[in-house]
Order: sequence, then C-alpha cells, then structure tokens
Amino acid sequence: MEGKITLTLTDRKGVIAPGALEARMAQAAPLLEKAVAGDPVYRDFLGWRTVDESAGPERVAFLQQQAARVRADADAFVVIGIGGSNQSSRAAIKALRPAGGPAILWAGNTISAAEMARTLKELDGYASVYIDCIAKNFETLEPGIAFRVLRQYLERRYGEKDAARRIFATGTPGSTLEALCRDNGYTFLTFPERVGGRFSVISDVGLFPMAVAGVDIAALTGGMRAMRDELFAAPAGENMALRYACIRKLLLEAGYDLEMLAFFEPRLDYFAKWWVQTFAESEGKEDTALYPVVASNSEDLHATGQFVQQGSPILFETFLTVAARDASVVLPAETKKDYFDYLTGMDFWDMNDVARRATIAAHSERGIPCLEFTVPAIDEDTLGRLYYFFLFACYLSCMLLGVNPFDQPGVEGYKGYMFKNLGKPGA
Ligand code: PA5
Repeated sequence: MEGKITLTLTDRKGVIAPGALEARMAQAAPLLEKAVAGDPVYRDFLGWRTVDESAGPERVAFLQQQAARVRADADAFVVIGIGGSNQSSRAAIKALRPAGGPAILWAGNTISAAEMARTLKELDGYASVYIDCIAKNFETLEPGIAFRVLRQYLERRYGEKDAARRIFATGTPGSTLEALCRDNGYTFLTFPERVGGRFSVISDVGLFPMAVAGVDIAALTGGMRAMRDELFAAPAGENMALRYACIRKLLLEAGYDLEMLAFFEPRLDYFAKWWVQTFAESEGKEDTALYPVVASNSEDLHATGQFVQQGSPILFETFLTVAARDASVVLPAETKKDYFDYLTGMDFWDMNDVARRATIAAHSERGIPCLEFTVPAIDEDTLGRLYYFFLFACYLSCMLLGVNPFDQPGVEGYKGYMFKNLGKPGA
C-alpha cells in the first residue's frame, strides 16, 4: 500500500523469548489507550497529538502564504534556534533537498565564535537576507545572542524599517519575544503553548522554515495525519508504535544500553540527529533509558562498524531502509586496470542495497537484535509519517519507562554553572 512503513525484527540469538513481545504489548494496551486519548496528566504538553490543533490545514495555508512572501524576495534565510526548536526543519530540508528556494543557513545552535563569524561572512554574499528566530520562551542563550547579532546585521545592511520586514520570530504568545516583535514590527509566528521543542515539528516551528525552503508542508502534514490515524486505529496487538516501544523496553531489560539508528542514505543524517534529540531528551532521565546513537552507512561501517561487529555487545540496531530506487549511477566499463571490473554495469543503488543486506546479515549473525523500518521513499508524505510515528512511539516508550516525556530537568545542570560564571542576574 502507498505510504506503508513496515517494521521487522531479526533476533537470531533469541534475546526476546518467544511470546514475550506479544505478552508485553497486550499488557501495555491500557497505556496505548491512554496515549491515543491523551493522558490528562500531560494535558499541557499534548498540543501536537491530533496534528490539527497545532498544524491544521488553515495554519498550513497561512504558513505557505508567509513563506511565499519570503521565497519571492530572499536569497538566504537563517533559521535561528537550538535543540527541538531547529532539528526538525533542518532534518526535512536536508533530506528532501527542495530546489529553487533561498539558501537556508542555521544559527543559534552553537556558541562558537568561528561559526557565527562564518555565517556573517557567508551572508555578505547574498543580496537579500531574511531570518526567523525560534525560541519557546526566549530565555535560551544560543538563539538569544544569535538573534541580537543577526538582527543588528540586517539593520546595518538594510536600515531598521527594511530589516523589520525581513525578521520573523516564532515564540509563545505572551513571551518577551512576542513583545520584541510587537515593539519593532517583526512578524510573530506561534510556538504553541502546549507543544514542547522536540515535538514542535507539528507546528509553525518546524513547518515555516520547511515551507520557505520549498518543502510541501501540506503533503508533510498529510503524512502526519495518515500515521496518526493508523496508530490511533490499530489495536495493541497490531500497533507498530507500541511494538517498537515494547521491543526497545524488552531489549533495555535484557541489558542493552544503546540503540543505533543505521541507514544507508546520508541525506538522513539530520533526520537521525532529530531522532537522537527526540529520544535522548525525552527518555534519558531517572537513571534509565537507551542511549541513542547513529550509524550513517556505509561510511560508518568503516569506523564504528568494527565495534558493532566485535566490541562490547551493548547495542542493538534499528535500520531505516528506503525502498524506492530514487537515483541511478551505473559503474562504467574501464580499460585501465583498477580491478573493479566485477562491478562494471552495476548501479550504485544496487551495490548500496547489497551492502545493507550484508550488514544486517553479519550483525544479526553475531546475535545483535536488528530492527528494520522500511519506508517507501524519502518524500514529504513519508517524512510526515516518520515524524509522527517516532513522536508517538517516544511518548509510549516514556510511559513504559515511567518517565515524563515532556520535561528536560537534566539540561539545567550545566546551565547553573554557566549562567553564574557569565554573570546572569539571579543565577
Ligand atoms: O525539546 C526541547 O524542549 C529543547 O530541546 C528545546 O527545544 C531547546 O532547549 C530550545 O528551547 P527554546 O526554544 O526555549 O530556546
């Protein structure tokens, strides 16, 4: 069926005992029911759950309109934000590589002076620059200081009035960011109150930069809704998100510490970073949870692949496989002796596929549990489905762990020292 994503598990060592997964899924049925209905305990954080509350068709049309204005005039568009607030749009833009829009740059995701200097220098090469500062409550240091530098840069280049129409900000209504926009004539977009950073792909936060880049956000949110419907309708025994969450929990209980997301399409690198962000920041608390790591193959097979095959048996793998034959480069014949003639006439796509199958075979032969999601293609519909799938699965997974999916108290640890040493009032 079009758009179908499948999940398989190869467990050659029998780490998960026969029947254990089915039993766990049946046991977790009440949790699934709660998640589908929206657990009242997390009422204030579930604005993403229905998709329509934070990214309904009207909102999508409004964002497309705003984006069209930018696309008509901008040569470069800078997305300012960090963590959950910038990962999702970057993931989609890097995966889909839409053509014809402004160059998209990223700022406010580091305090590196070299990066800021490089961004400013790069912007000098574009005639027309627009920016969007994304910050939920506008207290985070990185986007705060990047926004100041970049809006002053725009003011110097275009004057205050012209700069103002080039500045967008996405924040929570009532925040100091909204006041800054109101006082200075910047366009203010909504970071929904009931949506946290890493769930914000289903809102202006993720969708507006995507639309500016040329991603079809109507198709992407259509994919989200299709996955929502699939997951809300599937009973516990057949629910793919619950299945994924239960496999992860059983493997954690069996002593695995890491889950490695492995894929053979490097344009998924930033999607993998989004996946890491989603699971690490949602689950990694109360001394539990899997540590999410990534393998961008075949490159990483020449690095961490050694560890996976023979190092400490601490990880299992989750492969993200793309079924579509979406490009073709055939190895040409050669008269010079380079000893690669056995591959002459073969397509890179097929060689990559052989490498993927070989990897799963070798790793599962070692006894490593290998999950595999097969997606039909890298397109808007599929990405929308994947975003919703992993968010919902993460929510379920946190429920199974007994941790709050929506907070991140641990990130305050270093901030206390940092703000004290930076002289922040009240720190
Ligand atoms: O997922 C989260 O909540 C975090 O990763 C935040 O998105 C991140 O810390 C940035 O927060 P803010 O948008 O408030 O600057």
